[in-house]
Amino acid sequence: MSGNSFGEVFRITTFGESHGTAVGVVIDGCPAGLELSEADVQRELDRRRPGQSRVTTERGEPDRVAILSGLFEGRTTGTPIAMVLYNEDKDSKVYEAIKDTPRPNHADYTYQMKYGLRDWRGGGRSSGRETAGRVAAGAVAKKLLRGSGIEILGHTVRIHKIEAGDVTLDEIRRNPEENPVRCADLAAAKRMEEAIMKAKAEGDSVGGVVEVIALGAPPGLGEPVFDKLDADIAKALMSIGAVKGVEIGAGFAVAGKRGSENNDEFALAEGRVVTKTNNSGGIQGGISNGMPIVVRAAVKPTSSIAREQGTVDLQKMEETRIKITGRHDPCIVPRVLPVCEAMTAIVLADHLLRNRAAKV
Ligand SMILES: Cc1cc2nc3c(=O)[nH]c(=O)nc-3n(C[C@H](O)[C@H](O)[C@H](O)COP(=O)(O)O)c2cc1C
Repeated sequence: MSGNSFGEVFRITTFGESHGTAVGVVIDGCPAGLELSEADVQRELDRRRPGQSRVTTERGEPDRVAILSGLFEGRTTGTPIAMVLYNEDKDSKVYEAIKDTPRPNHADYTYQMKYGLRDWRGGGRSSGRETAGRVAAGAVAKKLLRGSGIEILGHTVRIHKIEAGDVTLDEIRRNPEENPVRCADLAAAKRMEEAIMKAKAEGDSVGGVVEVIALGAPPGLGEPVFDKLDADIAKALMSIGAVKGVEIGAGFAVAGKRGSENNDEFALAEGRVVTKTNNSGGIQGGISNGMPIVVRAAVKPTSSIAREQGTVDLQKMEETRIKITGRHDPCIVPRVLPVCEAMTAIVLADHLLRNRAAKV
């Protein structure tokens, strides 16, 4: 199985399966001299961890990270940084019962068809647990970016039919970690939580939309033509399980605008070139323009639901019905948000390092 690595200079490789020994990541290309501790990484992992609130799964994984290499006396050495999280709370029995009956809209059927066998325990490699390694790598990327004045913010802007109202940057910095859905609009957050609990009570699930904003990115990040910044961000976010759509700036709404409405006019602010609006989401021609980079990801409703569903028994080749009894989030949106932040940070760290080779 190839395709487990991402990035050119700041390059990550994730490994592990949900109910195997461990999951983790190796980062190659992180510059030497970056101050880093396990606590820096743990803080981010705790935001992705299961069992954080009543809207997430009850799987009790502590997600304790161990940094195995690449650190000396609290600073990176420029050698590969390997980070591992041992899987502790595994219950594979419920997966054994459905190993021949693929869950609708999960990866069971496609993995089986592609490889002829698969580690069905907990969804194996296709489990959301794979993203723990990405979040660990993202914590390192965020630290690297912070040193260059780049801040990554994230918030939930929609759950099912409920949309957040307009919020300030201050609210996006402060509010999301104060509620289980990670929404900066606190009134909407309450209604979102209720919608999730209602779906859960009905044996169902809901999806939503998250937004990631990168502040302080300099103009010039992104490599034309195939490694455009927006192209790399789209790939990074679409590679996360359950992400089904990505928008940059105004996104799909550009289709309904006139040029005069969509164009971001240039202006000067304190001697700096800025744009008056930001429909481009901070990226033009695949290169950052110095405005906030704004991206959104649509997350589908969790496919493993408690309701009975139709499927096919692949051994007997006959239609049947399954009831999924494992521990699944009725809404994974609040846990996908830190993964989207991490992947955005990894892309920006990679392009920041690549950009150093752009001109003399
Ligand atoms: C953090 C995270 C947690 C997830 N948790 C679950 C879960 O509890 N149950 C589930 O069915 N899918 C979960 N998923 C989604 C599956 O991994 C994903 O739907 C599956 O791999 C199929 O990929 P696709 O949805 O991109 O087609 C999770 C994804 C992420 C990123």
